[in-house]
Amino acid sequence: MAAEFPFAQLTPNQLSYSERDERYRRLHAWPEPSYDHDSGLRMVWRYDDVRELLEASAPEISNARSLQPLVGFGRIAVNPRAVGHLCRHLLPLPAKATADLTNDALHQRVWAAMAGPTGYFTVPAHTRSERAESLAEHFRQSLPAAATEPLDVTAMSITYASRIIGETVGLPPRDWSAVADWSGAQSGLLGRWMRGRELADAVGALGRLFTVSGMAVAHSRQHVTGFPRHLRAAGIPPRVAVSAVANSLAAGVHTISGTIQQGLLRLLGEPDRQWWKLLGEPAGVTRVAAKILQLDPGLVGWKRYVVRPIALRSGTTLPRGPVLVLMAAANRDPMAFADPLGLDSTGKAPLTFGFGRHICPGRQLAQLAVEVFLRELHSRAPHAQLVSPGQSPRIRPADLLFSGADIVIR
Ligand code: HEM
Repeated sequence: MAAEFPFAQLTPNQLSYSERDERYRRLHAWPEPSYDHDSGLRMVWRYDDVRELLEASAPEISNARSLQPLVGFGRIAVNPRAVGHLCRHLLPLPAKATADLTNDALHQRVWAAMAGPTGYFTVPAHTRSERAESLAEHFRQSLPAAATEPLDVTAMSITYASRIIGETVGLPPRDWSAVADWSGAQSGLLGRWMRGRELADAVGALGRLFTVSGMAVAHSRQHVTGFPRHLRAAGIPPRVAVSAVANSLAAGVHTISGTIQQGLLRLLGEPDRQWWKLLGEPAGVTRVAAKILQLDPGLVGWKRYVVRPIALRSGTTLPRGPVLVLMAAANRDPMAFADPLGLDSTGKAPLTFGFGRHICPGRQLAQLAVEVFLRELHSRAPHAQLVSPGQSPRIRPADLLFSGADIVIR
């Protein structure tokens, strides 16, 4: 019987860390360099191919559809409730501002406002420890009001990431708790095969994300600081600024919290817990967080579109159509990393945050946020044990882009 493609049915979001390790190992032994997945997306996983597609410098590779919903606009158009939300909140359609913007000159200005030397998300080295202290306060504020056991770390990590992103983007604290839902809607639309009420609710939440972002930009004149104000001061047109705010709110939450969840599944699940113990040492935290971001990122794949058939530099040929670029898989390519699962193994730069013009502007903040969460959790609960999900564990949804885990500890 022919072997089944390791990610034909299941996505990383549905696997334990050891099953993920095994399937990624089999993926790199797969004889073909790409796979035509049932979703309509062609999967690509070899390091050099992933990097070239993310870079998108060849005219055949486009980023223009990177933020399109997985189900396509056709399915949204035939869902009356979704159309209602779309008309109320999302028409005229939002401007392109970040991942799907193809106007390079405008994109460069937006990106510089986010991540250049004075970019709003940049964390300069001399402010790192002060920033870490403020993230630790977000960790404390994310703990349940009364000491509870067992502790739902998945819920806590989402609260933590929502607070950080809400604050960073400049929303009033009353809106921070909703950021998780809005962000979940955009993430879900990108990577999940939604239908019916779930699809309509997601379009509604995405609509609210843009409405709140629009209000933040409209009120930015009254403020001297804040991300919307920063974008306006950089001369970014208001409609583009609204989308930059919305995209940033959506981008940070489930990427950070998913990395924390998947990382903890490994750190607490490994029999000898060597990496977990290293979190007790200052230098250990940085090494472990970097490795977790390489192996278990909350964002496992990203979309590109091949406009005309192309032969990549490696010789891999791709037909016209949408491509799912698997960064989490590329980060384990044995041709790029001597020992992908080793803590200090040598190799190329991981592609967790992308590559080229669109590389993640929030990467320094994300790295620090993952470090602080792991450090704080370890210092509070060094002997934490994963609570087994019992007889009927929740089945996590298939998600081609985003990945997390249900983590409960005592
Ligand atoms: C572990 C956390 C994160 C991961 C794994 C991640 C990953 C990525 C990746 C792979 C891209 C490249 C997309 C492309 O090439 O089109 C990207 C872009 C982006 N990320 Fe992140 N990200 C994370 C956290 C954040 C945070 C915290 C923020 C905001 C503060 C953020 C904001 C953005 C934005 C706005 C873009 C679009 C950039 C552009 O196209 O110019 N991300 N991210």
